[in-house]
Parts: sequence; structure tokens; C-alpha cells
Amino acid sequence: MSQGKDSGFADPAGTWNKRFADQTYLFGTEPNEWLREHAGVWLSGQRVLCVADGEGRNSVWLARRGLQVDAFDIAEVGVAKARRLAAEQGANVNYQVADCDGFAWPEAAYDGVAAIFVQFADPALRERLFARMRQCLKPGGTLLLQGYTPKQLEYRTGGPPVLSHLYTAALLREAFAAMDIVELRDYEADVAEGSGHLGRSALIGLVARRR
Ligand SMILES: C[S@@+](CC[C@H](N)C(=O)[O-])C[C@H]1O[C@@H](n2cnc3c(N)ncnc32)[C@H](O)[C@@H]1O
Repeated sequence: MSQGKDSGFADPAGTWNKRFADQTYLFGTEPNEWLREHAGVWLSGQRVLCVADGEGRNSVWLARRGLQVDAFDIAEVGVAKARRLAAEQGANVNYQVADCDGFAWPEAAYDGVAAIFVQFADPALRERLFARMRQCLKPGGTLLLQGYTPKQLEYRTGGPPVLSHLYTAALLREAFAAMDIVELRDYEADVAEGSGHLGRSALIGLVARRR
């Protein structure tokens, strides 16, 4: 599970630093499958931001594809592991330790945003986070987002065990109504992302373009 029963929402940095303390990579070192499948929307040399990037599996993979990648996460232990993974794989990523409310989001700066399992956000934080993600994209820039749906509460193979943090298609359509929805898929799959996301999972994936 990516978040335990108490979910650690009161102390996210402390909680995630503990989860990342092990030498192994909690979500593995391979990129998320939704990201791998859709990253072709971005061309080599374009600028992408990885939001709450954890231990770096997604940012490193994107940088190795020739993208210019910025990434941040609240957990310094995760960012240290991300830096190590990048060094091992010869990838150049600009990492920062930052809370999503504290990150210095630039305006209309990125060709892409990758938001993979950022469901630490409760509805109020999610509203601020999603607005920032949209605003930091250039017009024509693309957001790739992956999360769990409420059905995941039955599987409990990853993600927060809290309904209000999970996404439905209707929720994402409304949240990103100001963007063009290119693809929105509510689906199930057998996920094997380290020990953190493992087993049958109720997923949702979004591809949306800034107008
Ligand atoms: C489920 S993990 C996903 C990590 C990464 N996106 C991936 O797919 O491997 C959620 C991440 O959100 C980070 N996080 C939690 N609260 C945060 C906050 N308020 N601001 C920034 N990052 C946060 C955690 O440290 C953790 O790395």
C-alpha cells in the first residue's frame, strides 16, 4: 500500500521519509505504465515537471528519453534516492525538496506535467494543486495523470484508503474542464510497481491539453 491506515496526512514529510527509508525503491525503478504508454505526447528537448516524484522512477525515465525534467517531492529521503537513481542511470534531472504548496510554480513554463499517484491531496489541497498544474503548462502543453478510483477501496493494493482522495471520471472532467480532455480511462489492471503498488488495481488515467 502506498499509504497506511493512518495515511500520514498530518506529517507527510515524516511519513514518506519513513516509507522511503529502505534501500529498495518502494515503487520500483521502472516508470508508471500510464506514463510510459503516453509519454510520446512530449518531444525530446521539451520541458516537463514531475509533481511529487517520490524516488525518481518517472523523472529519470523521462530524462533518459531526452526531456528536460524538473521534479519535486516533500520527502527529502525520496529525493535523495531519486538523485542516486539519476546518477546511476546517467540522467540529468533538476530535483527539489518542496511541498506542493511551497513549490515556486512558474506560469506557462512547461510542455508537460506528470502527476502520477498524487492522491495525498484532500479535496481542498487537490483544488490548489490541480490549478497550479494547469497554470504551469504552456498553451498546448499536456498533463499526464494517474490515480486510483473509489473501487480501489475494495482492492487495497495501493493508494490512500480514503474516499475523498480518490478520483472518478466525473471528478476529473470537472476539475480539468478548462482543458481539452484527450483521453480519460477508468480501468482495472494488475499493477507491479515495487511493493508499494502491487496487485489488482482500480485505476484512472487522464491526458489533458491546456488551451
Ligand atoms: C504514492 S507516492 C508517488 C510517488 C511518485 N509520483 C511515483 O509515482 O513513484 C506519493 C508521493 O507524494 C509525496 N507527497 C506527499 N505529500 C506531499 C506534498 N504535500 N507535497 C509534495 N509531495 C508530497 C510523497 O512524498 C510521495 O513521494
